[in-house]
Amino acid sequence: MIEFKSVSKTYSDGTKAVEDLSLVVPSDGTTVMVGPSGCGKTTLLRMVNRMIEPTAGSVEWDGTPIKRLKKTVLRRQMGYVIQNGGLFPHRTILENIGTVPELLGWDDRKTHARAQELLELVGLEPQLGRRFPAQLSGGQQQRVGVARALAADPDLLLMDEPFSAVDPVVRADLQELVKRLQTDLKKTILMITHDMDEAITMGNQVAVLQKGGQLAQFDTPEEILDNPASEFVADFVGRDRGYRSLTFAGAPELKLERVRTVRNAAFERGEGRSDEPVLVVDGEGRPQGWADPQRPGRLLGLGSTFTNPGAPLREVVEAALTSPTGLAVAVGADGRYAGVISDDAVMQHVRAYRAGVAESQVTRQIRSEEDAEAARIEAERQAAEQAADQERQRAEAEALAEQKRSAKGRRKRRGGATAVKPADAPASEQPADVEPEGEKP
Ligand SMILES: Nc1ncnc2c1ncn2[C@@H]1O[C@H](COP(=O)(O)OP(=O)(O)O)[C@@H](O)[C@H]1O
Ligand SMILES: [Mg+2]
Repeated sequence: MIEFKSVSKTYSDGTKAVEDLSLVVPSDGTTVMVGPSGCGKTTLLRMVNRMIEPTAGSVEWDGTPIKRLKKTVLRRQMGYVIQNGGLFPHRTILENIGTVPELLGWDDRKTHARAQELLELVGLEPQLGRRFPAQLSGGQQQRVGVARALAADPDLLLMDEPFSAVDPVVRADLQELVKRLQTDLKKTILMITHDMDEAITMGNQVAVLQKGGQLAQFDTPEEILDNPASEFVADFVGRDRGYRSLTFAGAPELKLERVRTVRNAAFERGEGRSDEPVLVVDGEGRPQGWADPQRPGRLLGLGSTFTNPGAPLREVVEAALTSPTGLAVAVGADGRYAGVISDDAVMQHVRAYRAGVAESQVTRQIRSEEDAEAARIEAERQAAEQAADQERQRAEAEALAEQKRSAKGRRKRRGGATAVKPADAPASEQPADVEPEGEKP
C-alpha cells in the first residue's frame, strides 16, 4: 500500500505541481491517476521511487515513510515503465531486460535465463532478444520496457503513460498484457495516463487530478462515470461517458435471430427478396460481410462482431452501430457465425441497464436523504439535551442561592447584623476589636 500524505511539490521556479494531495493506493489491483497534461501526474509518480522529493508531506509504503528507505533498495522493489519504453539504444533487448539483475550482481547465466523468461512472459519471440531497440516496433519496445521493469520481481510497478505512443490496436494488446500480468503476478500497479478510456479499462480505482495537482475524485471507474464529483470531472470524463459506462453493463443474455447465409457474394437472390439481409461467410463459417443488395456480387463491410455468449453490452452496441444493416453479428468462441440481433433489440438491453443504474442512483439518493434526516434528528436531540442540561444547572444554581439566602436570613434573625461580616467588606470596615498590624499601642 502506498499512501500519499498531504504531499505538495513546488518546483524551484515557483511552479506548484502538486498541492496538499492525500491518496491511498491499495496493494492489490491497479490504481490509475488520470488528468490533463501538466496536472502533476509524473511529479506524483516520481515521488514514489524518490526521483522527486516532496516539498511538504510524505509518501509511505506499508506504513514506512519512504524517506527512510535507501533509494537504491527502494528502486529495486519498484519497476518503472515510461513512454516509449526508455530502452538503452546500444544494448540488445536481452541486455536491456537484464539491466537490474546485472546491477544486483546476478551471474551472467542467471541474468540471461531470467531475461529469456521475461521475453516470453510479455509475448515476444525468443529471437528478438538479440536485436537492438530500434529494430523493434513501438509496441514491441513497450513490451520490453514492461519486461525490464519486472526483471527483479518488484512488488510495485510504476507506469508513466506507458502506452500513449502506440496505435489503438497495439495499445489494446498492451493493456491486456498488463491486466494479465496484474492478475497472474499480483503486483501493485500505479499507472498514469491522460486518457480516460485507458483509465477506465485499466483501473480498479481511478484518481482524477486537476491542474495544480489537486485530487478531483478518487473512486471506481463506474462511480466516476455515473456520478462525477464535479463539473471538472464530468467535463474531463467527456460527453460520451454514457456510452463508456456501458463497459460496466456486463454481458446480457441475448436472444439471437438468424439470417440467410451464403458462401459466395455472387449468389441468386431469387424472386421478390431483394431487401433481405444476406450474410456472406467463408468455408469455416466465419462472417465476411453483408451482400450488397444494390451491387450483386459485392460485399458491404461487416462492422465489428461480438462473441456470444459473454460479450459486454458495450461491444454489442458497437457491433450494432457499425453494422451496415443495423444487425449486430454474433460469433461463437471459434469465430463462426452464431446469429444476429437488431439494433432495436440492443437498445432495449441498453434501456434495461440504464434503468438499473438510475434505480441504484435513486436508492443512493434516498439513502443519503435518510442519512441527512437521521443526522438532523440526532442534532435536534443533542440540542434539546443540552438545553435541558443548562436548565437543570440553572435550577440547581438557583436552589443553592435560595438556600444560602434563607440561611443568611436565619442567622440575621438570631444574632444581629454586626456578627455577620460581608465577604467583600473593605478593610476600613473591619470590626473595632481587631488591631491593625504594625501599629504601636
Ligand atoms: N523540473 C521542473 N521544474 C519546474 N517545473 C516543472 C518541473 N517538472 C515539471 N514541472 C511543471 O510541473 C507541472 C506538473 O508537471 P508534470 O508532473 O510533468 O505533469 P503531468 O505528468 O501531469 O503532465 C507542470 O506545470 C510542469 O511544467
Ligand atoms: Mg507526465
